[in-house]
This record gives sequence, structure tokens and C-alpha cells, in this order.
Amino acid sequence: VCASVAWCFAEDYVLDDKPGLGRTFDGVGGLSGGGATSRLLVNYDEPYRGRILDYLFKPSFGASLHILKVEIGGDAQSTDGTEPSHMHYENDENYFRGYEWWLMKEAKRRNPNITLIGLPWAFPGWVGRGKNWPYNFPDVTASYVVSWVIGAKQHHDLDINYIGIWNERSFDSTYIKLLRYTLDKNGLENVKIIASDNLWEPITLYVLRDGELSDAVDVLGAHYPGTTTVMDALQTEKKLWSSEDYSTFNNEVGGGCWARILNQNYVNGRMTATISWNLVASYYEMLPFGRDGLMTAEEPWSGNYVVESPIWITAHTTQFTQPGWVYLQTVGHLMQGGSYVALTDQKGNLTIVIETMTHDHSECIRPPLPPYKVVPQNVTFYLKGSFVSTLFDGSFTLNLDVDEVYTLSTITTAQKGSYPDPPPSAPFPKTYKDDFNVGNPYFSEAPDFADQTGVFEYFINLTDPGPHVFTLRQVVVERPVTWEADADQTISVLGDYSWQNLTVTSDVYIETVKTGGVFIGARVDQGGGSVRSAKGIFFWVFADGTYKVTGDLRKWDLMSHVWHTLCLTIKGDYASGTLNGSPLWNTTVTAVPNNGWVAIGTSSFELAQFDNFSVEAQ
Ligand code: GAL
Ligand code: CA
Repeated sequence: VCASVAWCFAEDYVLDDKPGLGRTFDGVGGLSGGGATSRLLVNYDEPYRGRILDYLFKPSFGASLHILKVEIGGDAQSTDGTEPSHMHYENDENYFRGYEWWLMKEAKRRNPNITLIGLPWAFPGWVGRGKNWPYNFPDVTASYVVSWVIGAKQHHDLDINYIGIWNERSFDSTYIKLLRYTLDKNGLENVKIIASDNLWEPITLYVLRDGELSDAVDVLGAHYPGTTTVMDALQTEKKLWSSEDYSTFNNEVGGGCWARILNQNYVNGRMTATISWNLVASYYEMLPFGRDGLMTAEEPWSGNYVVESPIWITAHTTQFTQPGWVYLQTVGHLMQGGSYVALTDQKGNLTIVIETMTHDHSECIRPPLPPYKVVPQNVTFYLKGSFVSTLFDGSFTLNLDVDEVYTLSTITTAQKGSYPDPPPSAPFPKTYKDDFNVGNPYFSEAPDFADQTGVFEYFINLTDPGPHVFTLRQVVVERPVTWEADADQTISVLGDYSWQNLTVTSDVYIETVKTGGVFIGARVDQGGGSVRSAKGIFFWVFADGTYKVTGDLRKWDLMSHVWHTLCLTIKGDYASGTLNGSPLWNTTVTAVPNNGWVAIGTSSFELAQFDNFSVEAQ
């Protein structure tokens, strides 16, 4: 029985390279950062961590990504946490902080041809010289960014291929030109510039009107373009990229979103690269945009991870074509809905990717998707031009159902890679301890702490005669040039968001005389961009000898250079605190959230240390 006319008569499509080819394909990528999206990944034990990386980067195995884009840490909140800068202070340079260096090396080890991109979301405060703006001293900003590129090569032998301006914020033509100049002056002519990681306009207009700017910019990168571009952008003859896209919960609909935009970003918008925010969902799920990654790896304590559908959707393109292949001009929409693209290596290979995603099965987080229809259909593809002789003569017909992706290719190396199942999912351990006694840590941050304002790093007290040589230190002392509304206090969260009754303990060391202060907290209910309004229960001690218990981080409502032990217990609506073992306060709490993470932090952007941290949750 013919369900519709489309089932009865095949519609015809021609794949032909005779009329010339389309644009050169630049790849499919993932974005780590913007921010702290890979935070929990680094603390997975082997072999699980390596397997996750294989699913992401190993050629002919899983997502087999062509591009890795990372945040250039700016010490500030950039969605799911802060990422450390390579220069916390003006006279400070350290190319071993955070995990992006490690991630780039792991990606490169698996795929030596992977394209690497760096982009800042925020900058340390000194770059703005006290203003929340990175362009007043463009030479300072340019040398700060270029030092990151140089550091990548010097310390990790990583060649950064592209560098961006300021994520989803203003660009400045003078700065972009100076960035180009500074790169060139340092022998980095091969490092190309993407602008402006925001909308198509106004960067496109600026590039069209300013020849010098046009010379500096290699790629026009737009975010969440909804598969379309603008005439002006096409006119620049620059490469057009969707330099950030997706950000959709990674279930089947997320997979559908990804399938639709991977094809249609080229079909509708002539974009030759698409980069997923984010690469892998490796942050506490209750932080903003939980699970908006190509796969999920948010439980280093159990080893559990989930290879989600977007991984295999990615493979449908990435395993069958490579950057440098060229799109055919004969790409487009299918008559009964869906789309097809075709690419060739110009050496006889041909790959065709067809998607028939329905509206409700492929909506992305943004922008809104106007209604459209897709029904089952028969399609016949006719191969013409060079493909007739190199492949086979003639045509083929397919019955396409809805919500499907088909890849047809001369490439035969593709595989659905697999490993034995990871360990089962498990909640965050209820008993947790860290004395930070790590002499030579590979990562600068202690496991499981998710910094939401400020940066907490392993620290060695060279002068400490006593038991606090190895500690965890908050190191940001000045409000950064922010991307989101960082709190005025610093805070790092840890644990299980559903925790209610628990005791949290930490030795604390205030370094700022008179005005300094630190806290430990429980039932902390907000992180990410809303960290300023975090509620919970916060037990503060200050260097002036006073203490406070507050229901929010803003603390509306001791002495420095001495170690104290703070202990906070909360059970039901009853909370109590001890200082150095002596009960200090107890109170009935109302209007405290019912559950949340535990936390440590400081009263302002100030140095302070933590040691012998522990939690005992019920
Ligand atoms: C983007 C941003 C990312 C992340 C994402 C969430 O606009 O660049 O860092 O916040 O939104 O959807
Ligand atoms: Ca210690």
C-alpha cells in the first residue's frame, strides 16, 4: 500500500562535480570550556578516562572529532565553573594549570591532524587594569593571548591553529589587528583568527568595510546560527563556521538536533565547520546546562560514563570525510523533508550524508525552530561527472523513513567502536576526605572541587614547619574581567546536590590581615551564572575575630595567619558550628535550601588556604 505519493514515486537527485565544487570542509568539533565542562573528566581512573577520550577523538572509532576548541582560562565563571588562567597576575606565567593542555595533548595523540582552537571567555583582572573591559589596553590583551599560544608550543609542543577574540562579547577592530600583528611578530603567521564568536553581524559589516581588518580575520564564526547565514557573510568570501552550536540535552532529541545542523549548517548557511558546546558533559549535572555534551562523563568516583547518541551522529560525518574534502554543489533539501550533503576528496572518494529529522525530534536549545514537515519518501540519486567512471554507473534508490541518518560512502574504514560497559552509576561517596598532601600534582586542582568563583589550587607552604605544608589555596585576588556575574566572594562546590544532613570540616588559614575571611558551607543550591544568588548555610570566620552564619553567599548579614578548624553540621532544620573543636553556635535554620552541595570559599577575592577537608553525609 502506498502510504503517500512519496512512497510510490521516487524523487530524483543528481550528484555531480561537473558544474564545479562547493566549499572546502573544515571539520566537526567539540568545545571544552566556556566553562569548566571537562572538570570531572580528568579525575576518572584508567582505563575509563582513556576510553572516554577514544570515543571522542580516536579516528574510525567514535565521534572521531576533527576539531578541539578549548577555553583560554580567565579565572572567571564561564558557565559551569571557572578555568584557571596561565597568568593569574601580571608577572606570573604557568602553563600547567587546569586540564585543557592535557586534553589537547590527549586529543592530538589520538588524532595528530586534529585542529586546535583557543578562545577566551574572561580575562584576569590585571588585563583590564581594573576595568571590566579587555580592550582599553589592547597591547596587554594581545600579548596575554599570544603568550598562551607560545606556551602551548613551548611547554606542550602543541600548535594552536586558530585563536578567537572574546566569546559572545564585543570585538574591537584595533585589538583584532594588533592580535594579528603580535602573532606575526612572534613567528605565528600560521595561527589564524576567528571573529567574532557571536552573531554574523556586526563583524561581517566591519570586515567588508575595513580592508585591514579583513586581512586579519580568516574565519567568520557565528554561534547558534540556526543553520542560516547572511548575504554579507557570503560576500566576504571568508570561511563561515558555526563556531559554537548544539548545547542541547544529549538524549535522542539532542542527537536529532545535532544530525540536522551538521547537514543543514552547510545546506542552508554554507558553514564548513560546526563545533559542539560542549565536548563532553563532565560537570555536576545540577550546574547550568547539565548533560549538554556529545556524551556524559560526570561520575569520576564511579567510573560510569554514557556514550550518548550525538557521538554516533557525529561519526556519520566524521568517519567518512576529513577536513580538506570538498562539498559538491549538488547538496540540498529532500522534497519530502530532510537534507543531503555530498563531499569528495577529489581523488575519487565520495560520501553522502542524508538526514530526515522531524521537527519535534531535532529541536535544539536555540534558536527557535519554525515548524516543517518530514514524511517517509523514496529517493533516487544519480551519480554524474567523475563519479560515474570511478564508482559505478548509474543510480541507486533508497526508502527513507523519518528521524534517520544514512551515510553512503566509498570510505570503508569506519567502525562503531566499543569497549566493555563501564562500572554502574553510583552517587558521590558520602564519606569524603582530602588532605591535599600531593607533592607533585599532575593537575593544579584537587579532584571534585568545582570552582564557581575564584580558583582553588594545590599549594606548597615552603615556610610551614607544621602539618600544613600541602594545602589547597584560593589564588584570585582581584575581580576578573568577567563573562558572567561572578560572586564577590570566591566559592568552590563539591558533592551530591541531593545532600541534606551532613557534617563538613576544614582547616582554614586566612592570609589577609584584619579584613580577610573564609567559609565552609552546605546545601549550596546555585552555581554557574547564578552563583551570586547561591543560598545554603555558610559558616564564616573573619580575621577580625568575628564569625557569622548566613543563609546566602552574600553574607548579609579570628585572626589571620593562624590555622583554624571549622566544622559545620546540618541536620533537618538544625545547624551548628564548631571552631577548633569547641562549639561556637547552633541555630534553627529556616529558609535554607533542603539540599545542595558542600562548599568552601573566601569573603572576597583574597588569598586563603584550606586543608584536611572532609564530609560525612547521611
Ligand atoms: C553559549 C556559551 C557557552 C555556554 C552555552 C550554554 O552561548 O558560549 O559558554 O554558556 O551558551 O548554552
Ligand atoms: Ca595537607
